[in-house]
Amino acid sequence: ISEIPQRRGHLEGGRSSSSPAPLQFSLVIPTYNERHNLRSLIERLSQLLDRLLGHDYELIIVDDDSPDRTWELAQDLADSYPQVRALRRQGERGLSTAVICGWQRARGQILGVIDADLQHPPEVLEQLWQQIERGADLALASRHVDGGGVSDWSLRRRLLSRGAQLLGLVLLPGVVGRVSDPMSGFFLVRRAAISERFLDPVGYKILIEVLGRGDISWIGEVGYVFQEREQGESKVTWKQYWEYLQHLWKLRLDLLPVQRFLRFGVVGLSGVFIDLAVFYVLREQWQLGLTRSAILSAEVAILNNFYWNDIWTFSDLSRQQQGWRKRVKRLLKFNMVCLAGLILNVLIVNLLFNLLGVNEYLAKLLAIALVTLWNFSINLKLSWRV
Ligand code: GDD
Ligand code: MN
Repeated sequence: ISEIPQRRGHLEGGRSSSSPAPLQFSLVIPTYNERHNLRSLIERLSQLLDRLLGHDYELIIVDDDSPDRTWELAQDLADSYPQVRALRRQGERGLSTAVICGWQRARGQILGVIDADLQHPPEVLEQLWQQIERGADLALASRHVDGGGVSDWSLRRRLLSRGAQLLGLVLLPGVVGRVSDPMSGFFLVRRAAISERFLDPVGYKILIEVLGRGDISWIGEVGYVFQEREQGESKVTWKQYWEYLQHLWKLRLDLLPVQRFLRFGVVGLSGVFIDLAVFYVLREQWQLGLTRSAILSAEVAILNNFYWNDIWTFSDLSRQQQGWRKRVKRLLKFNMVCLAGLILNVLIVNLLFNLLGVNEYLAKLLAIALVTLWNFSINLKLSWRV
């Protein structure tokens, strides 16, 4: 059994070389106290997949150190099925992060996830696989399309589930609205669609993270009936609803350019004060010339702005390009863009004042607003989103 430290973020490999993906398919099975379901799930999955893919697949069980020792059973299964791998994660719990942990160690071109408690009928995998073969980037098992449903849910549970979906629709229409069942935890996704993306989900709903951050254009859905649980119990408590809210909120902030722009604006404002303060010190204390002071103080402000933008405004993007070389590269680009922005600023002021007769101060204000906007979008594209 592999005992593994937790790593966040990227799936390694993908298109770039570091870990090749020589298998067709990797299916992750997250488990927590599923001792009584796992064996029969593995039997059904292996039968189906052997027929479908020969031996060109792997089943990765990711257990979070279950008190019922599911990890022990997982290891037994790995010993008797060559396609099964068992991972035991210690010191961390959580469905979504367990799935990412499994994907990070997966070798397949296609990645998937299925619950271990048999509530997701394994046989549906065949139709999901067909969707992928037809070219889908994401193949999703849904309760809310033809052939889908829930077996015997109380009104309360249905309302909670639909309420969560509705909330997601309001906060993240462009993400949650793309599928009929955003709560589903049974799907396949092309490795290439997520391998370059930084995934950092909270709680249970890994699909929302994949939809929100992945590069997914074609989605295929397949109906399935969510089975009743025969063995063991659900791990869902109020905590999972709270985590869902946190997850939605975090994605919303990360995906909203307006939010980014506001941050960029706040950072820019801090730069103005730094610029003035340094200018004051250089002039009054150091008695430096006007032009020199202006250039030096502007440069200090640019460095300040870069720092905060890198760790705050664009933190999700800079985390995808770690290492000091890349950081210096971003800094140089940012610097160039800011200097170009300065020239643009002067041009705009001249244009407004001399050609259009706009009041000097109003012209300056408009120029600042326009250049900030320009700075933001050019830097986003050129410096951070590379
Ligand atoms: N490794 C790990 N760590 N696995 C976990 C954890 C955890 O902290 N919590 C739950 N699991 C595993 C369970 O063992 C099971 O295999 C699967 O994740 C789903 O957990 P359940 O507790 O059975 O969830 P559910 O049936 O209420 O919810 C399911 O229903 C949704 C449909 O509304 C989830 O599976 C969703 O993925 C699914 O879409
Ligand atoms: Mn379940």
